[in-house]
Amino acid sequence: MGSSTSSDSAAIGRLSAQVESALRQHSDTLIGGDADLAPFAAALRYPIDAGGKRLRPVLLLATVEALGGDLVRALPSACALEMIHTFSLVHDDLPALDDDELRRGRPTTHVVHGEDVAVLVGDGLFAQAFRLVAEDVGTEPLARLAVIRELARATDGMVRGQFLDLRPVAQPDEASLRRMCGLKTGCLIEAGVRMGLALCTVTPIESAAYAALAAEVGVGFQIVDDVLDATGTSEALGKTAGSDVANERSTYVTVLGLEQAQQQVEASWETAAALLDKLPGDPSALRAVVELVYRRDR
Ligand code: IPE
Ligand code: IPE
Ligand code: MG
Ligand code: MG
Ligand code: MG
Repeated sequence: MGSSTSSDSAAIGRLSAQVESALRQHSDTLIGGDADLAPFAAALRYPIDAGGKRLRPVLLLATVEALGGDLVRALPSACALEMIHTFSLVHDDLPALDDDELRRGRPTTHVVHGEDVAVLVGDGLFAQAFRLVAEDVGTEPLARLAVIRELARATDGMVRGQFLDLRPVAQPDEASLRRMCGLKTGCLIEAGVRMGLALCTVTPIESAAYAALAAEVGVGFQIVDDVLDATGTSEALGKTAGSDVANERSTYVTVLGLEQAQQQVEASWETAAALLDKLPGDPSALRAVVELVYRRDR
C-alpha cells in the first residue's frame, strides 16, 4: 500500500469539513420548525448528527476536485448521498434486519426513538435526499437530472443488495458475494464517483476510467467492513463487532475465512491502485480517500 502524507489526510479533512457544514445547513432547511414535528425533527437529525466517516460525500467532492469542477456547487449532491447512506444504516440496524443497537458510537435510532419512528426516519431521509437534488437550482437541469438518476439507481441497487444479504443463495461463493456486496454497498460508494462525474464536463473515456475505479472500491469497501466486523472492537468501530456471525450472515469472512478475506482486501487494493495510476485529471485527494477505504480501522 502506498504511503500517505499529511497533505493527503489534510485533503480529506478539508473535504469532510465542507460536507459537515453543508449537511447542517441543509438539515435545518429541510427539516423545518413545525412545533408538532419537533420530536420527529430530533429523530431525523439523530443519525446524521452522530457523524460517521462521510466517505461517500467526500468521494464525490474528491472526484469533482480531480476533474476541476466546482466543489461548492457539488455540496447538495454530496449531502443527498450521505442522507441516503444514513437512511440505509437506520433501516439496516432495525430489529427486522441486523438488529443492532450501536451505530456511529451511539445507540441506534430505533433504540432511542422507537422502531416505528426509525422506519419513518429512514423514509424521511430518503425523501429529503431527493428533494435536495431536485431543488438544487444551482445545478443546470440536465446535470441535475443525471445526478438524480445516479442517486436513484444506486439506492435501488442498495436495496436489492440488502435483499440478497437477507435471503442469500443456497451455496454462497465468491461470485455471489461479490454481486451482493457490489449491490448493497458498492452502489452507494460508486454513486459518490458517478454523481461527481455527472457534475463535471468529462469525455466518455475519462468517465469510464473513474467508474471502473469506483466499482472496485465499492466491493473493496465491503470486504474491509466484513474483516473489521471479525477483527475490530465495538468501541473502535462505533458499531457492534461480531454482528455478522451473530446474524449468521454470509460475508467474505464467514464464507471464505478471515485469511482469504484479508487476501481479497489486498487484491482489491492492488486493482484499485493500478486504476488510480491511470486516472486522468488530478486525483490526489481521491487517491487519499481510496487509500483510507483500504487501510481504515473503523
Ligand atoms: C457502513 O458504512 C455500512 C456499509 C456499507 C458497510 P460506513 O463504514 O461508511 O459507515 P459510516 O458512514 O462511517 O458510519
Ligand atoms: C450494510 O452492510 C450495507 C447497508 C447498510 C446498505 P452491513 O450490515 O455489513 O453494514 P454494517 O456493518 O451494519 O455497517
Ligand atoms: Mg446488514
Ligand atoms: Mg449491519
Ligand atoms: Mg458489516
